[in-house]
Amino acid sequence: MLRAIDENTITDAAIEQMASTPDPRLKRIMASLVKNLHNWAREADLTPEEWLEGIKFLTAVGQKCTAYRQEFILLSDTLGMSSLINALHDKRATEAGTKSSLVGPFYRTDSPPMRLGDTIVTKPSNGLEVVLYGRVTDRSGKGVPNASVEVWQPDETGNYDLQKHDPSEMDLRGHFHTDAEGRYYLRTVVPTGYMIPMDGPVGDMIRAQKRHGYRPAHIHFIVGAPGYREVVTALYLEGDAHVDSDTVFGVTESLVTKVNAKDPNSPIPNLPSIKFDFQLAAATAKDMTGRVGADPSQITKAGA
Ligand code: BEZ
Ligand code: FE
Repeated sequence: MLRAIDENTITDAAIEQMASTPDPRLKRIMASLVKNLHNWAREADLTPEEWLEGIKFLTAVGQKCTAYRQEFILLSDTLGMSSLINALHDKRATEAGTKSSLVGPFYRTDSPPMRLGDTIVTKPSNGLEVVLYGRVTDRSGKGVPNASVEVWQPDETGNYDLQKHDPSEMDLRGHFHTDAEGRYYLRTVVPTGYMIPMDGPVGDMIRAQKRHGYRPAHIHFIVGAPGYREVVTALYLEGDAHVDSDTVFGVTESLVTKVNAKDPNSPIPNLPSIKFDFQLAAATAKDMTGRVGADPSQITKAGA
């Protein structure tokens, strides 16, 4: 019998038609998406003009994406989706570990391999030199040897290499491995907070909402080792004006650190330092990745 489609029955009609999806996980995700998307349209009493505006907006988001710019990640971040997905990922862990934070749109997969104590600063810089150090441990506090520590950050003016130079050049990125006791240490400069890229549709959205658009100063990390859950996170600097109003909701209290002017325990004690220990949870069979985002060039390649 022909079904009467109205503003309520349309939801079941769409979900029922998708019920033939063989992959059970895809079926569940899509049914839930349709249910919640339809509820949103009903709740907001969305008009055709408004929905078309939304479609134009999403089209512009896609058109802004390149191998060096990921506007969809920016949208996910500014809507709080990336942080929500991170929180769900952390909750799924069977052991406590360092909390996740955003990958953001400036990650590159192929940062240069470096040795402990190296500096990730490769261009002339006026930034305050600082040592980043600590340990990568398991839940019991035992050091994890040869753990992979990838780090990337903006400079003292709040810019990433991807924004400043020929994007084929790398600066303020490096890939380290911990020593036999799980220690890592490297040199860099203190980053400055920055405004997220505002020259695209996401920037238009942020301005329309009268949000400030800033991220507090931070340094990104991806830390992992075989048998452990990879942790994608960032350290935020105490005292930054936007540490409690991050535009992309990446800050959580346990990730806020400070620059110590003098620390006799630092491996390079004549420089200011930031100390942070990363704790890795054991991997579970369900763990795939904790990365909400990716190197933008990998995403455009995947869709090519
Ligand atoms: C970042 O931390 O690199 C970032 C995250 C979200 C939006 C913009 C930048
Ligand atoms: Fe960042």
